[in-house]
Amino acid sequence: MSGSDAHPSPQLPAATVTHYGTGYERERLAGGVSRLEFARTQILLRRFLPSPPARVLDIGGGPGAYAGWLARDGYDVHLLDAVPLHVEQAHCAAAAQPDRPFAADHGDARDLPFPDASADAVLLLGPLYHLTERADRVRALAEARRVLRPGGVVAAAAISRFVSLLDGLENGFLADPEFVDIVARDLRDGQHRNPNDRPSYFTTAFFHLPEELEEETREAGLDLGGVYAVEGPASFVGNLDDWWPDPARRDLLLDLIARVEREPALLGASAHLLAVGRR
Ligand SMILES: C[S@@+](CC[C@H](N)C(=O)[O-])C[C@H]1O[C@@H](n2cnc3c(N)ncnc32)[C@H](O)[C@@H]1O
Repeated sequence: MSGSDAHPSPQLPAATVTHYGTGYERERLAGGVSRLEFARTQILLRRFLPSPPARVLDIGGGPGAYAGWLARDGYDVHLLDAVPLHVEQAHCAAAAQPDRPFAADHGDARDLPFPDASADAVLLLGPLYHLTERADRVRALAEARRVLRPGGVVAAAAISRFVSLLDGLENGFLADPEFVDIVARDLRDGQHRNPNDRPSYFTTAFFHLPEELEEETREAGLDLGGVYAVEGPASFVGNLDDWWPDPARRDLLLDLIARVEREPALLGASAHLLAVGRR
């Protein structure tokens, strides 16, 4: 199962491959504030994806948290990712649910090894923030459009321009002058770099303004339904452990985030944004 022969190896920066080389992505969504990212993304996907059975391409699907969940729900899922370790981890995740398997291949969001008009939905939960050139992001979105059937849905995640500033305030990283320099560049042009590969400072990426995500989605020829805050103003809640284990408090938190998920004045305060569009 490999699309990588016909489709050349993705050109991820070496720093990005090294960053993911620890394998931490496999557990990421199960801990910390990423639990909120996972739950909110699932809520939005349930709202916008067609009902199963439907064909879903999970592009930049990493180790397969969403692919496994969607396959268990009855979707026909094919994951593609640029990091070989993530594809290996996705194969393990698929093997762990033999009654609800999904396919996983190595490949590049800019050059999808899938036929035109062959999918009901495409997830891009990763590539847009790792593609630092605008033309590459528009190309990835246009590839998603190409493989969608008319009326099919794309859900594309971005990281907010302000994430390092807000994260630095919450976690104390701004005491480090090196991090202050990183934030200054992020605020200037969205080009996030971590020159000394500090594990907590993420890796080479582009951080969007909400309107940039809207414009790129439209430029790819998609009908933009909207840009949604994923974690919203709870992105940097320091005490998620006080909220999450208690179902009533968790539901209250999720309800409050949903109330402001499209509030333009708050979008940039959400760590992740989700553009939802249709072919
Ligand atoms: C932070 S991980 C997110 C994984 C998963 N989608 C999630 O939301 O948890 C970002 C993923 O995007 C993948 N990625 C980045 N650029 C890509 C590209 N051009 N083509 C395919 N995958 C890419 C990375 O390899 C990585 O697995």
